[in-house]
Parts: sequence; C-alpha cells; structure tokens
Amino acid sequence: MTDEKFITVALPKGKLFNLSAELLKKVGWTADGLSEKSRKLVITNESARLKFIITKTADVPTYVEHGAADIGIIGKDVIDESAKNIYELLDLGFAKCHLMMAVPKDKKRLHLEDYSNTRVATKFPRIAERFFSERGMQMEYIKLNGSIELGPIVGLSESIVDIVETGTTLRENNLEEIVSIMDSTARLIANRVSYKLKYQRIDNLVTSLKKILSHE
Ligand code: PRP
Repeated sequence: MTDEKFITVALPKGKLFNLSAELLKKVGWTADGLSEKSRKLVITNESARLKFIITKTADVPTYVEHGAADIGIIGKDVIDESAKNIYELLDLGFAKCHLMMAVPKDKKRLHLEDYSNTRVATKFPRIAERFFSERGMQMEYIKLNGSIELGPIVGLSESIVDIVETGTTLRENNLEEIVSIMDSTARLIANRVSYKLKYQRIDNLVTSLKKILSHE
C-alpha cells in the first residue's frame, strides 16, 4: 500500500490525461507541475497530501490493483481488457468512444460469421475473444500496441478490433465498421484495500466529482 498519509492517483498519458487532470483540479486535487510532459515520475502536493503518477494507459489498472496507486482514471475499455481486481467507483462521462470490429471496405463479407477463422489485429484481445467466442466464432488474435488500422491494409490481418472516437481514422484508411462491441467512457477506479483504509478522502472525492458532473 502507498503512504497512508497520502493518496496516490494514477493518470494515463495520452488522450485522457488533460481531461482527467482538469476534472480533478476543479475539486482541488492537483499539484504544481502536474503535466503529461513532466519528466518527474511522482508529482507531489504536500499540503493537500496528494501524489500523482503518470503511466502508460494500459498500466493504470495494474498500478491500482497492486496498491502502488490508491485510485486512477482510465477508460472502461482498458479496465475490461485488463481484467484486474479493482473497484470501479464512478463513470466520469468523458472520453466517449466505442470498441468495434472493422474491415477494409472492398473486402466486406455478407455476415459476421463469414469472418470465422480469420485474423483480427487488436490491442484488446481479451474483449475481442469474449465477443467472438460468445458468437461461436473462432478467430486468430494478433496483438498490436498501436496503429491497429494498419493491420488489414498491409495484410497482417483480415480485420481489426479497435476504438472509434470520431471515425476519422477508419475513414482515412478505407475501413468500415462491421459490428459494435462495447461503449466506453473514463472511469474513476480504486484499489480495494485503499478504498477501505482511505474511505473518507476517496468518498469525499467521489461526492465532489458527482456534484461537478451533474452540473456539466
Ligand atoms: C485510437 C484508436 C484509433 C483512433 C480512433 O488510437 O486506436 O486508432 O484513436 O480515433 P478516431 O475515431 O477519432 O479517428 P490512438 O490515437 O490512441 O493511438 P494508437 O493508434 O497508437 O493506439
């Protein structure tokens, strides 16, 4: 567990960072020098008894599950893919997107089942596997860490399972959505032990955030 006097907050680099830091700042949870570009790995606000760590997106649930961070902000998609043992405390509503399967427009098949036994490139093999196996489809999963859309373009896979936000990446690469798999937004998560031991401060945060979100 982290220092009991402090709450350690894990924030992800990338798209979610600014929105998360801005939201927390509105309820006074911030620190001087809290920036995605900071080379400092732990940014501390002594008087507010807060520590922030900035991690790779996919690693936020890991830090929280092991108690290296008490709480964190991360997308529902990443939470489900990580399958970590954490509490999900609040839907923060921002970073709306959805996970879907897409294929090159000119290689579209008639039915979803027609893609059985083909290759799927994805950053989300666990969610993809659950989705296809529920439909009795066996697939070959190729794990990528970014630029997933490249997979079917260069013949690495027949399809992708990836996040769509505005749809620009799909459009610019002549890909078409076949089926939506899940919706996602940013969530506040907590370590199970921290939530009990630091209940008052974490619960106050949840209450303050709920108030702000209901006015937005
Ligand atoms: C995400 C996702 C898509 C893109 C979707 O990638 O994997 O590529 O955003 O957004 P759009 O619908 O608004 O175009 P990200 O930018 O996080 O980078 P990555 O490819 O390295 O995962």
